[in-house]
Amino acid sequence: MAARVAAAAAIVLASSFIIRRQLNRKTKSSKNLSKTYNGSPRLPRTVLPRRYNIELTPDLDARAFQGKQAITLDIVEPTANIILNAADLTIKKDTVWLRGKDSRQILWPVSQELYEEEELVILKFDQPLPIGEAILGMEFNGTLNDQMKGFYRSSYEAGGERRNMAVTQFEPADARRCFPCWDEPNFKAVFKLTVHVHVDRVVLSNMPIVDEQAIGKIKTIHFEDSPLMSTYLVALVVGEFDYIEGITKEGNKVRVYTAHGKTEQGRFALEVATRVLPFYAEYFGTTYPLPKLDMVAVPDFAAGAMENYGLVTYRDTQLLFDEKNSAAANKQRVAIVVAHELAHQWFGNLVTMEWWTHLWLNEGFATWVCSSESFQKYFIKQVSYLAVEHHFPEWKIWTQFSDLTVDAFRLDGLVQSHPIEVEVGHVREVDEIFDAISYEKGATIIRMLQNYLGPQKFQKGLVSYIKRYAYKNATTEDLWNVLSEESGEPVRELMNSWTKQKGYPVVFVKAKGDVLELEQTQYLTSGLPGPGEWVIPLTLCRTTYTRITSALMRAKSHQVMKPGLDKLFEVESGETGGHAINALKAEDISQEHRNDWLKLNVGQTGFYRVQYDEELAASLRSAILAGALEATDRLGVLDDTYALCKACKQPFAILLSLMEVYRCETDYTVLTNLIGVAYGVFQAIADARPDAAKDAKRFIASLLQHPAKRLGWDVVAGESHLDSMLRGELLTGLVDFNDEETIMEAKRRFDIFLKDRSTSVLPPDTRKAAFKAAMLDANGSDKSSYQALLKIYRETDLSHEKVRILVSLAASTDPNLVREALDFSLSSEVRSHDAVYVLNGISREGREAAWIWLKENWNKIWNIWSKGFLITRFVTSVALKFSSDEKADEINEFFTSNGNPAIERTVSQTVEHVRLNSQLVRYIREEEGLQEFLKQLATK
Ligand code: BES
Ligand code: ZN
Repeated sequence: MAARVAAAAAIVLASSFIIRRQLNRKTKSSKNLSKTYNGSPRLPRTVLPRRYNIELTPDLDARAFQGKQAITLDIVEPTANIILNAADLTIKKDTVWLRGKDSRQILWPVSQELYEEEELVILKFDQPLPIGEAILGMEFNGTLNDQMKGFYRSSYEAGGERRNMAVTQFEPADARRCFPCWDEPNFKAVFKLTVHVHVDRVVLSNMPIVDEQAIGKIKTIHFEDSPLMSTYLVALVVGEFDYIEGITKEGNKVRVYTAHGKTEQGRFALEVATRVLPFYAEYFGTTYPLPKLDMVAVPDFAAGAMENYGLVTYRDTQLLFDEKNSAAANKQRVAIVVAHELAHQWFGNLVTMEWWTHLWLNEGFATWVCSSESFQKYFIKQVSYLAVEHHFPEWKIWTQFSDLTVDAFRLDGLVQSHPIEVEVGHVREVDEIFDAISYEKGATIIRMLQNYLGPQKFQKGLVSYIKRYAYKNATTEDLWNVLSEESGEPVRELMNSWTKQKGYPVVFVKAKGDVLELEQTQYLTSGLPGPGEWVIPLTLCRTTYTRITSALMRAKSHQVMKPGLDKLFEVESGETGGHAINALKAEDISQEHRNDWLKLNVGQTGFYRVQYDEELAASLRSAILAGALEATDRLGVLDDTYALCKACKQPFAILLSLMEVYRCETDYTVLTNLIGVAYGVFQAIADARPDAAKDAKRFIASLLQHPAKRLGWDVVAGESHLDSMLRGELLTGLVDFNDEETIMEAKRRFDIFLKDRSTSVLPPDTRKAAFKAAMLDANGSDKSSYQALLKIYRETDLSHEKVRILVSLAASTDPNLVREALDFSLSSEVRSHDAVYVLNGISREGREAAWIWLKENWNKIWNIWSKGFLITRFVTSVALKFSSDEKADEINEFFTSNGNPAIERTVSQTVEHVRLNSQLVRYIREEEGLQEFLKQLATK
């Protein structure tokens, strides 16, 4: 078959039609991307596709495919042109035709022009087309590319050889690389696929197979018609797989496809999926509409996973779990990714955003729903009657939600952030908005709204929204309208301030006698004032969680009387329908230690920061020490203080002494957040005052020692999932902060592991710590640990283990060895989607070498990764390690002369970030007594 298809491809390439480079004849610049056609970024709606009948013949060996399609159209306005998307395809000459539904006459286009830059095809006819239904036919071919987008090639080992598979990844706008189409989310149509492949290959698509015939070595597979759906959700996978199967309580068939012999690693994801589907069906009030759901592990995959309707594709680390060698964190990731992608089957696939400006409706909701309280309660209920792996309900993802908020806060504190509803001039800009604003900020403001409306009203609204817009498209406004109707609350007024402007507020709280003064200003990490103003759903509790008061803060400032505080607020918690924190038990908090304290943003459910006056801040500090605050609030106080220090609003000494308060902390999320803050604090102090770096490390290590002692190195039978994850985080932190005892123990265990890979002394959760500790010894003259890690890398076939090694490889303090690790990341031994892991692990000592390396290798990197969003990670993972204005200038200059619109947003955000690091360094240098204070803390 290979030879036949390749020969045909050669003939067709020779007869391709007119190529126009650019529609608007502009010079190649970023401005060029602002519009697609006729001054609009979107296709005209004169002709609407209704049904695609697509036939594809992939040739895996030749890395090419042939295609043929008949699209049923609705011509709704008089026009002599048909304009649709195509990219990297050759439409065969004289194969394009159009026929009215009831007409025998065939119309041939007089010209067919391909606009490469705009990714458009314009078919021109010599007469206006008949209004009504018509069929458009054409033949085309393309290559199975290596860029992990469109219809692409992935590869795997089988039978002692490397073989190719073909996979699609169409979101946001790459269906056009597989078949010419109206490649925008608001052109929903029915898709019917027919595929011709070698008989021994497995072929998967969105729908089940209806018919299959084989002639000789080639089989033809016909898939069922899909429901109405957007092009970016169409999927096809051709390869060799085994599968396991499960069924939901509602009878939906779910399968997990893996490489041969690895199906058991798919068991956990299968269990999650079969339990998640019924939850969503119940929560959204609509059953899963497709006859089957397949999930497949793909060896080369740019994102983590993709929610294609009925055929979800995953990077294998996000779907597979190996009981012996994967870590608890890997397991949790699988659960979250599966739950996220399945949420999209409703939010995204059934109801789709009208345009990419509303991408956050997809990603924000999928992120929110699988961490939501209802979701977790559901799993806790499940445990009583299903044979559920017992750690599952203990995951407290709800507390871990705060991590999402923290990520969103970081990005949205930049001037270079963007509003949730972001204008999209050209689809090529869409890749960059799959970011912490669309995902994490989106999820956080949904949670804030749910908390304000109360879970019942909110859910009722969502049920109506899904029903009303099923198989259709919706905008942010549409959602607010339904929620307003269902709740009777001013949802639009409240939410517009969060989705239409970037940034977020900090509420300054001051107690003045009996009066509490509240004032909002925009928080910017620069410390400069911003123009933003928000309608803030405030929550507040005082000395106890039993009474939580709520109010909408509509103005810049607000005053309330302290003694009768709650009476002056407009709404009380009972009436709003409840809060996420209703679950907290006030009785748990020891009565005797309760002092008077006051906390705003209870449970951190709001997307705002709080700055307390000195007295209120001191009382919160005592409350944390007394164990009176819940984990989310302990985390909130820490993160807000850190942010205020970064914005030069509070001396660093305040943050350091607050960190001290967390010495006895046990909560997973609070501790991992403390570690995150510690990395930031350390980088700033080490750059500002290199003499103090040692003390900073000692102080931080001393904070982590106590919780690390509690957990030790060895797995305790029956321990909680969070403890398993926490152990790994703490030990890695202790290695990074040079805790000698931990490093020695890590090396001892690593040596045992080298001799015996199945030893119990180094379980997967602790391996990263040991790998990094081993790398501390490695340098140009003694590379033995580095080579030992490479040996493990080469011997294991488990991707989780490979990733753990990749993130440790550049941890050496010797810049030459860091360079060597970076060179390895570009070698054929590392799959292109994994290379950035090496960059994530660059040591502080290796950062300059890494920057030089990045510049020297930029052309190569650009050629491999520039077509997708992974390129942005190369920029950030190296550049964010710096803290000087000179470096910011250098980075800016390098990327603006070597860059491209695809990384423009990332570069400007990164440069701003580095300048902010530099500002912080100056601020710390000016703080008197800081070094002495740090010394004191370090020797305590
Ligand atoms: N729709 C995205 C996948 C995607 C991302 C497509 C970027 C195109 C560009 C998918 O639903 C997703 O969000 N995947 C996440 C995992 C999730 C758990 C946050 C990912 O890929 O990391
Ligand atoms: Zn998603």
